[in-house]
Parts: sequence; structure tokens; C-alpha cells
Amino acid sequence: MLDWLRGLFRGRGIVIEGTGKLAEGHSKKIDVGDPLAGGKQVVLCRVGGKLFALDALCPHEGGRIHDGPLAEGKYAVCPLHNYKFDPRTGASVEVACKAAKRYQVAEEGGNARLWA
Ligand code: FES
Repeated sequence: MLDWLRGLFRGRGIVIEGTGKLAEGHSKKIDVGDPLAGGKQVVLCRVGGKLFALDALCPHEGGRIHDGPLAEGKYAVCPLHNYKFDPRTGASVEVACKAAKRYQVAEEGGNARLWA
């Protein structure tokens, strides 16, 4: 049932209201679905005026990428071992680690549509 519902809405994505208020060099974590029922957390990051979306699950050892000010104004950080990830590509920075999972996001009129 849950997969059927996901498939139904996958084509249109979900609307995240108020993303236009997210300041440059900052990030905000949101819940997509119920985390206790297969949902996920996504970190929305604003870099270079554009919005990017990373899965909060860190690809290193399963920590959670946190939100708030981005490191050096452009990198999302997992506090478990302080690995940094570039929201534009998901790539790890200065460490050998898989990239963080990215999601497609499009912003228009101060709101965003997210495909996660
Ligand atoms: S688990 Fe995220 S940096 Fe190690």
C-alpha cells in the first residue's frame, strides 16, 4: 500500500512551502513521510543561491547530516566524524567516502518541489 502511494505521487514530487526563506549558506532538515514508517529525512541546503537536497543519512557510517549553518558557507556536515559533503554534487570533501544521496529539487515562487 505504501509503495503504491509513493508511486502515485513520485511523478509530481512533494511541495515544501517556505523554502525561499532559507538563507544562503544555511540548511534545514525536513521529514519526508513518517520516519517510523519508512520515511526519510532530507537536508535542504542553499548554496550559490540555489536549493539542493541531500538525504540526511550519512554514507560514511550511518550518522545523520545535520542542518543549520553550512561549513564554510557551502558544505553540509555529519557531526559523527565531521565529514563534509558538497550539496551541489553530494561528494565528500577532503575525505575518501561515498557521496551523500541527492534528490532532485526545484524552487519556484518561494516554495520547492522535491522528488525524494
Ligand atoms: S557517520 Fe557521518 S561522518 Fe562518519
